[in-house]
Amino acid sequence: MNESRHIVEVSDLTSGYEDIRVLDNVSIHAPSNQITIILGSSGCGKTTLLKHLIRLLQPWSGSIRLFGQEITELDEPEFNTILRKIGVMFQNGALLGSMSVAENVSIPLEQHTDLNDEIIRKLVEIKLDLVELGHAIDRYPSELSGGMRKRAALARAIALDPPLLFGDEPSAGLDPVTSAGLDELILKMRDQLGMTVVLVSHEVASIKRIADHVIFLDRGKVLFCGPLKEARSAGIQKVDDFFSKG
Ligand SMILES: Nc1ncnc2c1ncn2[C@@H]1O[C@H](COP(=O)(O)OP(=O)(O)OP(=O)(O)O)[C@@H](O)[C@H]1O
Ligand SMILES: [Mg+2]
Repeated sequence: MNESRHIVEVSDLTSGYEDIRVLDNVSIHAPSNQITIILGSSGCGKTTLLKHLIRLLQPWSGSIRLFGQEITELDEPEFNTILRKIGVMFQNGALLGSMSVAENVSIPLEQHTDLNDEIIRKLVEIKLDLVELGHAIDRYPSELSGGMRKRAALARAIALDPPLLFGDEPSAGLDPVTSAGLDELILKMRDQLGMTVVLVSHEVASIKRIADHVIFLDRGKVLFCGPLKEARSAGIQKVDDFFSKG
């Protein structure tokens, strides 16, 4: 058994596409029951890092531990057990347009459980109420606003009550008020459901509202990984510049 202090722990991760290096010796962690935000300028490797955390990519070298397990070494069934414990929100929501909101949210329940239709419907209702979308349960994605789509995507990501939630710029493209509403929901995931949340974001106002812990990437290297409060007094020029924008 490997003992890890943190639910997400990456050590010396180096990787890239073809022979182009994107992540350079990245060592980061995300503490349990906290909201961690991965930030940095466009192209610095944020999405790439997140993809490693769900094993969509394999590293050139380094270690990636989730729940204390080295995921780079697990076989498919072992890794699927880990994946079941992770909710993922993709960049643009990625709801299936041919399915209603209820059907979209039920996908993980259909895939990973043997529950009958009636119970699945009940669970879907509970999740949609949680994201304040109960009234739209039988609508189709094309009939939803951008903010409603994000909330539906969040309901689907948490359908299996995952202890760990990942998201890639979940509030991108939303107006400030809708974005603040989504932040409230993310806080609710942490405070009421005890989730550990790891999100990519570059919206300073949102980061200040919700982040406990931040990972600041710069051209594939880690500039800072630690509590938000400490980031702003760490004396790192690029980090200071970023936070003084908002
Ligand atoms: N599938 C791919 N094949 C080749 N190169 C890629 C691929 N995906 C990303 N890259 C490159 O890797 C680098 C990091 O990309 P990544 O998507 O991780 O950045 P990011 O920090 O998420 O940026 P953004 O804020 O714009 O979403 C970029 O230079 C990008 O061009
Ligand atoms: Mg990205």
